[in-house]
This record gives sequence, C-alpha cells and structure tokens, in this order.
Amino acid sequence: MSETTVDFSPAAAPLAEKLLEQALEIIGRYPVGRERSALLPLLHLVQTEEGHVSPRGVAFCAEVLGINKAQVGAVATFYTMYKRRPTGEYLVSVCTNTLCNVMGGQEVYDGLVEHLGVGHDETTADGKITLEHAECLAACDYAPVVTVNYDFAIDNTTPQAAVDLVEQLRKDERPAPIRGARICSLKEMQHQLAGFGDERDGAVADGPAGAPTLRGVSLAREHGIAVANFNIDAPITTTKPARDESAKAVKDPGPVREKPAQTGKLAAAGRKAAGAVKAAVGAVTDKVEHRAAGTSTGGGDVKDPQVRTAQQRNPDASTPTPDATKTDATAVPSNPAEAAGVADNPPAGDGKPAGDSVGNEEKK
Ligand code: FES
Repeated sequence: MSETTVDFSPAAAPLAEKLLEQALEIIGRYPVGRERSALLPLLHLVQTEEGHVSPRGVAFCAEVLGINKAQVGAVATFYTMYKRRPTGEYLVSVCTNTLCNVMGGQEVYDGLVEHLGVGHDETTADGKITLEHAECLAACDYAPVVTVNYDFAIDNTTPQAAVDLVEQLRKDERPAPIRGARICSLKEMQHQLAGFGDERDGAVADGPAGAPTLRGVSLAREHGIAVANFNIDAPITTTKPARDESAKAVKDPGPVREKPAQTGKLAAAGRKAAGAVKAAVGAVTDKVEHRAAGTSTGGGDVKDPQVRTAQQRNPDASTPTPDATKTDATAVPSNPAEAAGVADNPPAGDGKPAGDSVGNEEKK
C-alpha cells in the first residue's frame, strides 16, 4: 500500500493529514494481504488525536485499510479501550471485580463518584478526569487497585487516597505511581498502545515482581512444598515430545475380533436400523411431494408454513375456517381459579387482550 493509492473522503481527510505517515508505518508491520490486522493499533492511533474513536476516526481506519466502516465499527465497539465518547486527560479506572470488591473497591469507586459528581464512563466538566469501574486489572495481589491511563497508580487503595489522587491530577501534578511507569496523558498512552516508543524519561518501567505477587512462592518455600522434578533452569520445550512407539506396541492389542454370535446380533441390529432409516426417508419424501402439490398425506396439515401464513393473512373462499370450539372466548374453564380469572377479565370486544384499555386509560 502506498500513499498515492489512498484517496481520502472529506470525513477522513483531516486525520489522514496528521496520521497517515504513522498509519502506513503500522500497516507495514503486517504481512501483505493481512493489512486489516493493523486495525487495533490504528484505532489507538486515532485516539492519540481525538481521545476517542469518532466517526472521522472510523472513516480514516476504513479507508486506509480498504475495508468498510461497519467492519471498523464492529471492532471499535467491542473493546472497552476504544472510547466512543470524548474522554478526559486522565482515565481513572477503579477495579470493582471480585477480589478488589471484597477488599473495598466498590467503596473507592463510590467515593470518587460522589467526589467528582460523575458516574461510569463520564467525564468531569473541566475535561480532566474520566471515571470508570473496571473488571480485573490483573493486580489482584494488590487489591483494591486504581489505574490512571492503564498504569498502576495506587495499590491497596482507600477512598481517601483515590480522592487525593484525582485532586492532584486535576492540578496536573501527575503524582509518582506506586510502581511502574510515570503517569502520562491518555493521548500519550494511546501512542504507546499504537506501538510507538515513548521517549519521555521514565515513560516505560519494569522491575522485579513485588512481595505480594511472590507470596505463594515464599509460603511454599517456608513450608518445604515443591513440585516433584521441577527444575527452574529447564528450558521450555517449544515442540511436542516425540511419541513413544515402543510403549504403544506393548499396550495396543491390535484390532478386536468379534465373536461369531456377537457378529450375528450386530448384523441384525444394523439391518433393522437401515430399514428404519429407509422408511423415514420415504415418509419425508412423500410429505415433501404432497406439500408441493398442496395435498395431505392424511397425517395432518402438511402445507408449507409460508403458504399457510400467507393464506391466513389473505383468506379467500378456499381458506379453512378456524375451529370455533378451540377459540370460543365465552367457554368457561373447568379450573375454578382460571374461571375466576376469566370472569374478572372480560374480553375488550375490540380483539385486543383484556387489560389493554386499562393501560390506555392510565396513560390519559
Ligand atoms: S480483582 Fe481487582 S485487580 Fe483483579
């Protein structure tokens, strides 16, 4: 794909002017013929400019990839990291999933709702904070956790600590996170998610696993628990080990031969089953032929359901009259409770189910 082959529509042109070069770089990472796989990073790229995936962003992705807007929309609306409305500079996510919830995550979220005056997926009037409650943020060992623009901001948080955090963010103070990379803006994070390096000092961070993450290992060591034959230095095999054919030769007794008596019984059962299948096929064929001719086989109504429905909608002289005994509205049920219900709900007389007129009166 080259720049000259893309002729952008007026909707996509403004973003193309700013993002085309990076978009082509992203697309170039994928094999020829598989360019549409670049859609996920392209959607993040669009969010570096707009903070969300707007109709213009959808048009740009569709046109640069040569797919249609419905295909882009199907992906953009599936993942929660693609925002459908303008977002704030800082996306504050509070985990309210099982473990965080047990540890107080819901109270943290509720405290922020009250303090900020916004709910899930809503942004403060100053455009600084978008709040969301999130499913597991993959840090259950530090529950409850809060992230800012997908970086861990507070572990083992409390409602007050979360309020202090958002107040600092509103003043653009960008407090140092508990661990990991420096807090950035949501648009800067989208640039990383689109697959581009972030040159800011401390923008990318790594480190050893913390004590809560390693708690299981420490406990196992303390109690002398180990997996038999486990060797941490053993290389991980990347291919399936070869099958041990010698073991198979000993275990596999070869094909089982039926005893003569069993063979005879099996053959009889097979003949019976074949006869049943043949009869069923014949019956179906017979019904299909009668259906095509509009006649009956004597086994009930065999008309094609489409034909039957059309006749009911547009009855003519040949359309059978419904069985009055089955639809008699005046028939009294033998069950006393049902009979009492019928007595309390006389038919409206206009073909509508009883009770419709009551609802209409209430609306007036
Ligand atoms: S349940 Fe909150 S991080 Fe897993």
